[in-house]
Amino acid sequence: MLFIRSTLVLLVLAFNLQCSWAFSDYLLKTCAQSGFCHRNRQYASNIQESKRSPYSIDPSHLIFNDPLHTLRGTVVKRIPQENGSEQVIELPFTLDLLEGSKAHFTIDELRDPVNVKEPLNTRRYNETLSWALHESANLFPTPNVKVTKPKSLSRDKQLILKSEDKSIKMKLHLKTFKIEVFYMEDLVMTINDRMLLNLEHLRKPENNAENKLPEEIIFNDFHDDFQYSREDTIPFGPESVALDLTFNGMENVYGIPEHADSLRLKDTTDSDPYRLFNVDVFEYNTDSKMPMYGAIPLMIGTRPGVSAGVFWANAADTWIDIKYDESNTKTHWISEAGIIDVIIFFAETPLEITKAYTNLTGTPSLPLLSAVGYHQCRWNYNDERDVLTVDYEMDKAEIPYDFIWLDLEYTEDKKYFTWKPEAFPNPQKMLKKLWKVGRNMVTLIDPHIKVGYDISETIERSGTAVKNSINEIYHGHCWPGESIWIDSFSRKAQGVWGKFVSKFVKNANNLFIWNDMNEPSIFSGPETTAPKDLLHDGGYEERSVHNLYGLTLHETTYNSLKQGYAKENKRPFVLTRAFFAGSQRSAATWTGDNVANWDYLKISIPMCLTNNIAGFPFIGADIAGFSGNPSDELLVRWYQTGMWYPFFRAHAHIDTLRREPYLLKESVKSIVRDVIRLRYALLPTFYTAFHDASVSGVPVMNPIFYEKPTLEETYRIDDEFYLGRSGLLVKPVTEEGCMSTQVFFPPGIFYDYFTLQSFSMEKSGYRDVDVSEETLPLFIEGGHIIVRKDRYRRSARLMARDPFTLLIAPNATQEASGNLYVDDGETYSYQEGNYLDVLFTLKDGILESSISHYPADRSLGSNLIEDIIIATPNFQKPSGTILIQQGDMRKEVNVQVDPYHRYFKIPNPLLEIGKPWTILF
Ligand code: NOJ
Repeated sequence: MLFIRSTLVLLVLAFNLQCSWAFSDYLLKTCAQSGFCHRNRQYASNIQESKRSPYSIDPSHLIFNDPLHTLRGTVVKRIPQENGSEQVIELPFTLDLLEGSKAHFTIDELRDPVNVKEPLNTRRYNETLSWALHESANLFPTPNVKVTKPKSLSRDKQLILKSEDKSIKMKLHLKTFKIEVFYMEDLVMTINDRMLLNLEHLRKPENNAENKLPEEIIFNDFHDDFQYSREDTIPFGPESVALDLTFNGMENVYGIPEHADSLRLKDTTDSDPYRLFNVDVFEYNTDSKMPMYGAIPLMIGTRPGVSAGVFWANAADTWIDIKYDESNTKTHWISEAGIIDVIIFFAETPLEITKAYTNLTGTPSLPLLSAVGYHQCRWNYNDERDVLTVDYEMDKAEIPYDFIWLDLEYTEDKKYFTWKPEAFPNPQKMLKKLWKVGRNMVTLIDPHIKVGYDISETIERSGTAVKNSINEIYHGHCWPGESIWIDSFSRKAQGVWGKFVSKFVKNANNLFIWNDMNEPSIFSGPETTAPKDLLHDGGYEERSVHNLYGLTLHETTYNSLKQGYAKENKRPFVLTRAFFAGSQRSAATWTGDNVANWDYLKISIPMCLTNNIAGFPFIGADIAGFSGNPSDELLVRWYQTGMWYPFFRAHAHIDTLRREPYLLKESVKSIVRDVIRLRYALLPTFYTAFHDASVSGVPVMNPIFYEKPTLEETYRIDDEFYLGRSGLLVKPVTEEGCMSTQVFFPPGIFYDYFTLQSFSMEKSGYRDVDVSEETLPLFIEGGHIIVRKDRYRRSARLMARDPFTLLIAPNATQEASGNLYVDDGETYSYQEGNYLDVLFTLKDGILESSISHYPADRSLGSNLIEDIIIATPNFQKPSGTILIQQGDMRKEVNVQVDPYHRYFKIPNPLLEIGKPWTILF
């Protein structure tokens, strides 16, 4: 029976993969079909009617300021019984005020092991934070929290907690478990304002009814009647957790990737909630709240002067309702299992929230410089000859690229860690050929492992496979047919995987890994993924840890590669499809299986922006659409958009026509070539933006409201963005046949990037900008200095010694500044201080460079500056010669003026980038 149903799902999926261009919605549950979502939504509406609060804080159990300065207590759930008595469930509660305007609270349940069968772990899963936070993240409470409590504590009293710096005050209402949070004395967030707190405690089927609150319903508590998950054993019965959080005075919330939706999240009153549940959604719907491959449960709300963040540290299937209500945003978070574990953040701007969040979950790792270049991928490059032909043709067409990718078919019979021998007889030789010009290769390695070869046998023998509900190795179907899954939650499995990876990359130094299908995607599984009653390390159900699985895999792959490349001290490159909070520390990601049409091009921008503000900026979308064949116009527009994705990769489905850039007709090819070359010219600026992200979490693709948080009119703009903090403002064209587009500009002076024609915006607003097929609306905001490398080279590595060009865009007060970060682009030696950090400034008629950090390897700073271009008219061309000074060198030169008087140029100043210099005008 199981086999027939699995085969049916398989057929449905296979049909889906071949024929249609839309996701088959019936494969996924709606909220009404999901037991815990439906129950909690229903509870939410019933409790609004009854206006009763079943949850309170027990005043007699509160412990203040213990040595860790934590508030510990008990949340009490009272369930009226038919005979007039009450059943009382005690739920342990902690609350910490953290340094830097943050707070952390948890609500757990102590479960009686008597009711739980081996090998299931009795505890609710509470380790999500240990995966999400970086190793040395500090969740210590602030030392001097001031607690104001009434003389006698009774149920209807309040407690006030204040952080030492007085930025945060929390008013805890004991009677209803309501917490009001004030930031700088301003009420910014209310927790459990609507009394939607709910924790379905452990009970048995036979006494389920007496364990229900009057506002609760019975629906799929101990079984699941959704057609694809009827076998779910649900051993704990109902065990969801839910809570409402209100962002006061805020009408805009963002975050909770991954969804193919707008940057500003939508009201869900008349639809399903947003769902976070990592699933394989081939040709997903756009403008949709459906779950996707990744999940980051971080939401950010903002208004001018104040921003707040909620990090819901729960890895189970999660639904989030949003209601924009007058001037507040009301949110309702519902997770199927685990504990309530929440960190809330407060700051003046949304950027500060992202920074505070990455300070805890880790900033994105600094990628290989080459990984910031262009990636050429396709399912599939068939053999070595195919690979080397692409390589050769790209060079012949003078189109730079850095990574060539091998999808699924390079393996022998879909057995990962093997090469198809007839197609790739000598991978080492091929890799060496690529490395001659500094190029890299990525091969796909998925977590499903075909049964019956040494890799799966090792996993089986070592007991490191994911188990089914009766603790036997789980078998399911994916690309190779019958497969098992590595349980990368376990240390032992991590070690086993590490050995596979080390062996695979042995003798190579330019071979990297793509972890695809790691939601995990299971063709024979419910909702395209793993059954929820599978068992992982520690006796935890898939139900509790599902959204973490992808992270455990790609982090293991990253650590394994790091180990494999330890001798070279090389930074690994890993691409993952599934992700969770913290994934930014070890991987890049992409938006999965999109389609070559305009809707997917358009939605790729807010999708990437959302990931960027949720701390995971290294993201892109398949250019120019994974499925289908793009028109020339769409392809051009997609490259023009995609060159701004932090992860810049072309990829295509196996059934599509070949579309490598050199195959395009001449007119199209030359536009695409220019676009890719523009990305390479701007690599120093991109890499500096990646470095900024790696230091503080600032987005690489940066929404306008992140740069201009006081301008409310920017809060809904998600088709335009800045490149990091560089001042480059982009509005990609995503409409077919577009001849003119409206671009939003904040107040200030702006320059067209290509012509340097300037205009001034007295106040913010839209301007019509004409576009042609070749043009890309790209502007520099006055006040910035952009750094480029203008010479064409075949790869990023070959640009290492190339000279720089500086482009100065003065503001109204004739000032400008910009940064440049340089390192070897490949190793971790920057962590030992081997990097160059330069600040360029224009002020009071002096352009100068100062060095904030010198590299140990001085050759990193020996590149010359070959051109300095200064945009006018905001900065007048000097009438005579100008004086250039660097160390003992002093020279007077004449500047060159462009015929349209839009800029002047200092040609060949021959200044070394790694030493300070001054130019006096
Ligand atoms: C699914 C991925 O999303 C896609 O990019 C890849 O080409 C296929 N798997 C085949 O490996």
